Amino acid sequence: MKNKYPLPIMIIHWLTLFLVVLAYTTGGDPTVHLKTGELHVFAGISVFLLFLIRIIIISIYRKDIPLNKPRSKYQRTLFLMVKYTLYSLLFLIPVLGWVTLSGLTESYQLFAISLPLISNSWDVEIIGEVHEFLGNSFMVLIGFHALAALIHHYVFKDNVLKSMLYFKK
Ligand code: HEM
Ligand code: HEM
Repeated sequence: MKNKYPLPIMIIHWLTLFLVVLAYTTGGDPTVHLKTGELHVFAGISVFLLFLIRIIIISIYRKDIPLNKPRSKYQRTLFLMVKYTLYSLLFLIPVLGWVTLSGLTESYQLFAISLPLISNSWDVEIIGEVHEFLGNSFMVLIGFHALAALIHHYVFKDNVLKSMLYFKK
């Protein structure tokens, strides 16, 4: 068992953070705010594609994932709950964004490429609100996740944060 995450998983992890922050800071109706909207949709779709790649890469490197020993069984349950909630949101938020966009316009050009949209008769306003709510909740959860990593590093002084950092020995 290694004490660091494999490099491809580290790259996906930190690239996802960058893209989520980009998606969050460019949030808004992409059919109104054209330039930032394009960045929003690009970052959001990239998060979704990276999520799919992440699942494949993690299953390939299954045996090389560090076993950061939990301090108690409650901590392990909490870690797994946060992990699977993050996973679900990485999937759900972009999909809801895409459904909302499909209801707001009949065609959408992303860097001159026509994005495939679905025709639907759902209440786009509500789906848009849910997308926004989950987007905001996601940032709060990431904040807790990051805080936990920092507490591990500075208070418990263990290997958890270092296991996701390339440079730190
Ligand atoms: C991790 C990915 C994403 C995050 C964190 C995110 C977050 C957000 C947030 C917070 C808003 C509300 C902004 C505001 O009104 O102040 C928003 C709006 C919106 N997003 Fe996303 N988004 C993501 C991905 C996507 C994707 C992939 C699409 C489309 C393919 C999309 C389409 C939209 C649309 C259409 C709105 C406007 C909703 C409305 O006005 O009702 N988003 N997004
Ligand atoms: C978009 C933001 C983030 C997402 C979606 C995210 C998601 C995840 C996920 C799902 C894992 C479990 C490993 C895996 O399946 O890849 C993980 C592990 C980890 N993350 Fe994040 N993370 C984010 C941001 C951060 C930040 C800002 C920090 C630190 C400041 C951080 C530190 C860590 C550490 C140290 C681990 C290893 C935990 C362990 O194995 O015990 N993450 N992250």
